[in-house]
Formats: sequence, structure tokens, C-alpha cells
Amino acid sequence: MKISSSIFPIISIFILLSISSVTPSDSDDFDDFFQCLPKQSDSSIPITDAILTPNNSSFQYIYQLRANNLRTFLSATSRPVAIITALHPSHAQAAVICAKRHDFQLRIRSGGHDYEGLSYTSDVPFVILDMFNLNSIDIDMSTETAWVQAGATTGELYYRIAEKSNVHGFPSGVCTTLGIGGHFSGGGYGFLIRKYGLSIDNVIDAQLIDANGRILNRKSMGEDVFWAIRGGGTTSFGIILSWRIKLVRVPPRVTVFTVQRTLEQGATELAYRWQQVAPKLPKDLFIRLQPEPINNGGNNKTVRVSFIGHFLGQADGLLRLMNVSFPELGLTRNDCLEMSWVESTLYWAGFSNGSSIDVLLDRVAVNKVFAKEKSDYYKAVIPKQGLETLWQVLMDIEDIFVQMNPYGGRMEEISDSETAFAHRAGNLFKVLYGIQWSESEGGVNATARYVELSRRLYNAMAPYASSNPREAFINYRDLDIGSNESDETDFEDAKEYGAKYFRNNFIRLADVKAKIDPKNFFKNEQSIPPLPSH
Ligand SMILES: Cc1cc2nc3c(=O)[nH]c(=O)nc-3n(C[C@H](O)[C@H](O)[C@H](O)COP(=O)(O)OP(=O)(O)OC[C@H]3O[C@@H](n4cnc5c(N)ncnc54)[C@H](O)[C@@H]3O)c2cc1C
Ligand SMILES: *[C@@H]1O[C@H](CO)[C@@H](O)[C@H](O)[C@H]1NC(C)=O
Ligand SMILES: *[C@@H]1O[C@H](CO)[C@@H](O)[C@H](O)[C@H]1NC(C)=O
Ligand SMILES: *[C@@H]1O[C@H](CO)[C@@H](O)[C@H](O)[C@H]1NC(C)=O
Ligand SMILES: *[C@@H]1O[C@H](CO)[C@@H](O)[C@H](O)[C@H]1NC(C)=O
Ligand SMILES: *[C@@H]1O[C@H](CO)[C@@H](O)[C@H](O)[C@H]1NC(C)=O
Ligand SMILES: *[C@@H]1O[C@H](CO)[C@@H](O)[C@H](O)[C@H]1NC(C)=O
Ligand SMILES: *[C@@H]1O[C@H](CO)[C@@H](O)[C@H](O)[C@H]1NC(C)=O
Repeated sequence: MKISSSIFPIISIFILLSISSVTPSDSDDFDDFFQCLPKQSDSSIPITDAILTPNNSSFQYIYQLRANNLRTFLSATSRPVAIITALHPSHAQAAVICAKRHDFQLRIRSGGHDYEGLSYTSDVPFVILDMFNLNSIDIDMSTETAWVQAGATTGELYYRIAEKSNVHGFPSGVCTTLGIGGHFSGGGYGFLIRKYGLSIDNVIDAQLIDANGRILNRKSMGEDVFWAIRGGGTTSFGIILSWRIKLVRVPPRVTVFTVQRTLEQGATELAYRWQQVAPKLPKDLFIRLQPEPINNGGNNKTVRVSFIGHFLGQADGLLRLMNVSFPELGLTRNDCLEMSWVESTLYWAGFSNGSSIDVLLDRVAVNKVFAKEKSDYYKAVIPKQGLETLWQVLMDIEDIFVQMNPYGGRMEEISDSETAFAHRAGNLFKVLYGIQWSESEGGVNATARYVELSRRLYNAMAPYASSNPREAFINYRDLDIGSNESDETDFEDAKEYGAKYFRNNFIRLADVKAKIDPKNFFKNEQSIPPLPSH
């Protein structure tokens, strides 16, 4: 990752100069909205402490704090009318009731990692409901469960679990500043996916605020809604206040490794082999493949492929297993690092060896970049000639990276319709294509060029990826897929991205939507519209 850390002062000035505050056409609406909020929130903590308008000195700071993609943040054409930094559940309830009554769109933000910035941008007058202050984590070791509020991060969750136990963990994302609110709703996966599936496969209850401002739990929302919010992207159904999760068991010591091979060192043969082996390995072993272009100067380029592994056990067992299953990789004891499970979360997140686990409590991503991401699922092995094509595009583009995450294991055992998350058995791996750039590489001005490059890679892989539909991962949100005709969520348009994100579950999701939010209050550019009645 290339990072420009001193970017912030420049950006703040840029925004203040270039983005106008949205004034809703009817300023009475605006005043009425603010008068509505205290009336609707029943709390010992006054909601006025939670309301920020552009007049408040901290507005700009809070607005950009969790606006993680500079591409979407800096090209936004308007700012929110207000940010409600809920300090109590009733503040979130009031935000729903008053935004609905006074016709403001609500954008819900937990960790702010949406790849298209949908949690903090909109083309119509909007209010951000920011959940980051609602971040409590209550762990009950007697039942091995926890209630986790939407504003908690994955890092905080890992830290709090480790405080109580060194033999428990939770299967969710690799990045430690993801918000539980947004992250789980799209599925949530990490290096435990083969052993324990997705985050939502380990969710047993939830608190959801519906479009009438009511707080529902699993029982009161009903099994249909509970099904939908596990993988359907909650944005369409309501606001997640908290999730109740079942912790998973991990051994006291786990083993991680990274082995790198360039094309000259046989990376093509190994990547070809990896596709056949990685999805079939025992569940305790997860090996991510990460190819990246390397420029040695001049026209001397190559691709270096990293094999990044996580094993739920010690190095001896891992070496025995690799010796049988994937000897070609040549894993040695020197490549293996043994550590506790929580330390392995640091390893995956890219913290240097020796970092204190306290870094898990840093709730904000510090290094922001301009970025565009896309995703694919693969059901067949990419032939060597396809890998050569991939390498060539990587070397041509250079700024791009690819992550290939193996499936198999637990993902084969859960049916496509058990939750709203439909990409299960039959997939060999899921791929993330990402391109990142900085202010010095053209910043917002270079957006069109870099976005086009990401599409070029995506198009090059079309012959090998899943097709009809070409499936995509909702947590890797990509506004390129589906319709781009207008921002009205027309049902026919939604069917296009719906099929890619949810496959055969789309119609059931639209049916649930029609029941819980028939007026389509909760919406964004890729939300699920109510199923039209016939
Ligand atoms: C650096 C990075 C690493 C990532 N790594 C992984 C990974 O390892 N595994 C993985 O699965 N994904 C990963 N992702 C994708 C990530 O899971 C999604 O972007 C996810 O939506 C982020 O959730 P959030 O709360 O941080 O984001 P937000 O931008 O706050 O929210 C994302 C979406 O969910 C909605 N939303 C947020 N909170 C709520 C709520 N409380 N109720 C209802 N709707 C809500 C928002 O409106 C928005 O549409 C990564 C993303 C980034 C940027
Ligand atoms: C924001 O400013 C208003 C006055 O403009 C003030 O009443 C309110 O308390 C401020 N909010 C916060 C959270 O500081
Ligand atoms: C912001 O301040 C201006 C002038 O100080 C005032 O006219 C306006 O009503 C204020 N807006 C809000 C939302 O408080
Ligand atoms: C290309 O770079 C690599 C790594 O620096 C080096 O080993 C190799 O000799 C170079 N090849 C040419 C043709 O310069
Ligand atoms: C790997 O397998 C070979 C041949 O079966 C054996 O000789 C060797 O000891 C094994 N190594 C490990 C680390 O298990
Ligand atoms: C971290 O680094 C120290 C010192 O360099 C080394 O002794 C230790 O084995 C390393 N631990 C891990 C987990 O890499
Ligand atoms: C971006 O474009 C604007 C307007 O053309 C120009 O003033 C600015 O210098 C450009 N910024 C960069 C980083 O190229
Ligand atoms: C929609 O996408 C297509 C294909 O990517 C493109 O040709 C077209 O210009 C886009 N339309 C709009 C309105 O952006």
C-alpha cells in the first residue's frame, strides 16, 4: 500500500472550498427536522449533544474521520445537512422518525469502509446517522456469546475477546477498523472462513431499528427479516443497533506464514496448483494468494505472488500437513511464526512483529487513499494461460493488487438459502481487485483513469470468473455492476445487481423488504427495493 500520511491538512482546505452545504429547498423542513429530534428521543442523554451541523466546529472533523475512501469523499457534490452521532439508541430512533417525517435521506455509518462511500455521500439532501459512539461489547463466557454494538470495530471485538480468553476468537474481517454494523450485514469474512464460515454464520440475534423507529430483536422481527439482515446488506431493512454472536474456539497457539515467489521462481506453476489445493485443504488451514506487480526498474518487471497462511495449530502439524498436501510450496519451519490467535489478527492486519495488541483499540484508519475495488467469484481453475494474462495486466497497470481467498471447508456445508448470503458451495475462491492512488498521483483528478484501469483488469478476467450472473460480493461494493441509469431504485435495474450480489435470494429479499419497509425509506444506490405487488 502506498500511503501519503500528510494528506489531511490539504484535504480539509480543499473540501471547505469546494463542497457546498446542501440547503434543502424548504428551510422550514430543516428547522422542523431539528425541532423534531428532541421530541422523539427519550433519553437521559440529550440528543442536542449528538447533533452536528456545518456550524459546529467539529462537524468537518467528524465528517471526514470515517470517510475512508478519498475518491468518493472528495468527489462528493454535497455535504450532509447534519450528522447525528448517536449517544443512545433513542437518538438513532429519533433520526429515523424525523428524517422520514421531514424527507431527508438517512445514510448510516458505522466504520465508514464502504468502498463506494455510500455511508457518507448522497446526491439528495441527507443526514448521516453515525453509530461510532455505540460501541459496547458485552461478552458472556458462560454461554460463549457476546452482544456487540454496531459502532464497535473488528479490532475492538478481537481485543475484548482476548481479554477474556485465549482460546476464543471470531470469524470476521482482516482490517481491524471495520465497523461491525456494516461489515457483518454483507456477510463478513476473514481467515477463519474455511473453519467457521462468515461472521453472519455465527450471529444468533440482533437488534434492528425499523422504518417506524421501533427496536426489534430476532423474535419480534421474525425469521424472514433475521434471514435477510444476515448477508442482505442491512441498509435496506433498518439500522443495526447490535448483533449477538457466538464466539468460536481457537487453539492457544496458531501458526502464520508468508511465502513469496516471483515468476522467475515458479510462481505461475504454484498459483495454478494453489487453486486446486487451497479450497480442499483441511478447514484449519487458510492460504490466501496475493499476486502483485514488481518493477525492478526500466522495463524489468515481474509478478510476486505471496502465499499468506493461517493454521489453527502449531508449526509441527502445519509442516506435516503441507508436506502431504502442498509440498511444491516448500514451506519450511523458518517461514512459520507461532503466536496466540489475537496476535495473528495483528499479523493479518499488517502490523509489524512486536506491536502491542493495544493497536486493536485504534478505531480509525489513519492512512486514507483514493481507491476503487471490484470482486469476482471463481468456480473453475484459471488455466495457466489465464494466469499469464493476469500477470501481464498487473505488470501493465502496476498500481493494482489482487487478493484471492480460498473457499471450501465450512462454506461448502451451508446452503445458499440458509442466510441471504448466496455464494457458498461450488466456489473455489473469491477475488478482490483493488487499485489505489494518492494525492501526488493525481488525486481526485486521476479518478477516471484509475477507475478505467480497474475495469480493464476486471474485463480481462471475464473469461475465467463466474458468469450468468457474474457474481459479486456486497461487502466489496461496486457501483459499476448493475444499472447506472439513474438513482431511482427501479426494480428492473435492481434485479441486475441483485442477481450478482444475492443470486436466487434476491426475490426473497425484495419480498422481505416489501413487508418491513414498503415505502422504501432505507435505501441507497444499490439497496433492495420492495417487491412490486401484483
Ligand atoms: C481496508 C478494508 C479492508 C476490508 N477487509 C474486509 C475483510 O477482510 N472482509 C470483509 O468481509 N470485508 C472487508 N472489507 C469490506 C467491508 O466489510 C465493508 O466495506 C463493510 O461494509 C464495512 O462496514 P463499515 O461499517 O466499516 O462501513 P460503513 O461505510 O459505515 O457501512 C457500509 C454499509 O453498511 C451500511 N451500514 C453501516 N452501519 C450500519 C448499521 N448499523 N445498520 C445498517 N446499515 C449500516 C452503510 O450505510 C453502508 O451502506 C474491507 C474494506 C476495507 C476498506
Ligand atoms: C452545535 O452547535 C449548536 C449551536 O450552533 C449547539 O447548540 C450544539 O450544542 C452544538 N453541538 C455540539 C455537539 O457541540
Ligand atoms: C448556522 O449559523 C448561521 C449564522 O451564524 C445561522 O444563520 C444558521 O441558522 C445556523 N445554522 C444552523 C443549522 O444552526
Ligand atoms: C531484473 O531484476 C532482477 C531483480 O533485481 C534481477 O535479478 C535481474 O537480473 C534483472 N533482469 C534484467 C534483464 O535486468
Ligand atoms: C516430508 O515428507 C518426506 C517424504 O515423505 C519425509 O521424508 C519428510 O521427513 C517429511 N517432512 C516433514 C517436515 O514432515
Ligand atoms: C518477533 O521478533 C523477535 C525479535 O526480532 C523474534 O525473536 C520473534 O520470534 C518474532 N516473533 C514473531 C512472532 O515473529
Ligand atoms: C486538479 O485539477 C484542477 C482543475 O483542473 C487543478 O487546478 C489542480 O491543480 C489539479 N490537481 C492535481 C493534483 O493535479
Ligand atoms: C453506464 O455504463 C455503461 C457501460 O459501462 C457506459 O457505457 C455508460 O456510459 C454508462 N452510463 C452512464 C449514464 O453513466
